[in-house]
Amino acid sequence: MSSSPDHHYHAGTVPSEAERSRAYAEAYAAAQPDAGHRVVAVDLEASEADWNFVPGITTRAWSFNGTVPGPTIEATVGDVVEVRLTNKLREPTVIHWHGLRIPAAMDGTGMVQRPVGPGETFTYRFRLPDAGTFWYHSHFNETVQLERGLYGALVVRSADDPVFDADRTLVLDDVELEDDGQVKPPGWWIESHDGREGSIRLLNGMQEPQITMAAGQIERWRIVNASSARYVLLSIGGRAFNIIGTDGGLIGSPVSTQQMLLAPADRGDIAVGPFTEGETVRIESLPLDRGSFKRHKKPELFGTVHVSAAAPSVAQLPERLREIKPLVTGSVTPNREVRLGFSLGLKHGVEFNINREQHHHADPVRVGELQVWDISNRSPVHHPFHLHGFFFQVLEVNGEPPAFLSWEDTANVPAFGRIRIAWMPDDRPGEWMYHCHILEHHAAGMMAHFDVIP
Ligand code: C2O
Ligand code: CU
Repeated sequence: MSSSPDHHYHAGTVPSEAERSRAYAEAYAAAQPDAGHRVVAVDLEASEADWNFVPGITTRAWSFNGTVPGPTIEATVGDVVEVRLTNKLREPTVIHWHGLRIPAAMDGTGMVQRPVGPGETFTYRFRLPDAGTFWYHSHFNETVQLERGLYGALVVRSADDPVFDADRTLVLDDVELEDDGQVKPPGWWIESHDGREGSIRLLNGMQEPQITMAAGQIERWRIVNASSARYVLLSIGGRAFNIIGTDGGLIGSPVSTQQMLLAPADRGDIAVGPFTEGETVRIESLPLDRGSFKRHKKPELFGTVHVSAAAPSVAQLPERLREIKPLVTGSVTPNREVRLGFSLGLKHGVEFNINREQHHHADPVRVGELQVWDISNRSPVHHPFHLHGFFFQVLEVNGEPPAFLSWEDTANVPAFGRIRIAWMPDDRPGEWMYHCHILEHHAAGMMAHFDVIP
């Protein structure tokens, strides 16, 4: 078993077991639903299960509650989610709540809790502060555990969400199977450089399925890219669709486009349709050069939409979705540079690092002090930069402002490029981390942990 990247602590940074338990008990007690809201109780059992990624081939998957993806957890802003995780696997696991702004003690990493051993149970409890499309996944031995299926979506709705004819969650992933139908174990060299891109593309755990949508309707699709390394340049049959949300929820106004880049771990909420009866529309990823050895020359299919008979529509796409205030106006001096680099080595082949250090120990940040970080990529491949527990705004990509303002927890840093982000550490002190969300890069050491201090 390869170990979790979170385990390469630097001496002196590991909180004591007593400190961890205190922080956990406090966070648990503080998680109370708002007036009129509820506690959404979920039991998640991590266990092996037979799964048919490909029709006719049975694969031993690692699942939450026997399905891949695991169950979609659905709740409303102000609710409390209480998840009891039982580990029936033969190795430890933890669940990270990707994108949720919750206390550090509930973040589900090896920094803040002892991984949940085989046969053990651990309860996560937190209040949902934001509406949007999030996901949960194992944060232990990820190149194995996520690849085998330990992930699921978490959808948080709000009373003032725009109205659509349907609200669907589409979780994209890919998997590589060996001849015997079992998931291929992690590789070396090329895979350490590119990350794992499986040749079987999955939509909600099925290979290129067909979904049905009524003609004349407009649906909200919540897309989660749960792939280990695949960048999805999403196209819906070349049609125009509207981006309405990203990682951290709704954006200011709908953005009409024909494609949307979803790096690993990214989410995109889009308004799709209306289509005409009898049409077949492809959900696919367009060719994209991200600097990997393996190139995509053609569009690759994730699934198709079959358009059935027309149904009445109640969908309304408002011109304004919500107000996002910029964290920074005018010029600003960055207070941190995060350099994404690499060296060659024997352990992984390509040893990815941050500021020349694998599993970097970064300086703390203080609650209430605006953070402006330059994240520069000193390597020939794109990296999806993920910050745990806080949303950031992208100020610049290679010196240019992004097309629209949004809240993100994951953003692409182009090969040999640079992004500038801003974020505000609110009052949630503790141990946090940032890392590349290509799982092989994270495992090799392209990650940093740091404290938010009062
Ligand atoms: Cu989606 Cu550290 O993870
Ligand atoms: Cu990377």
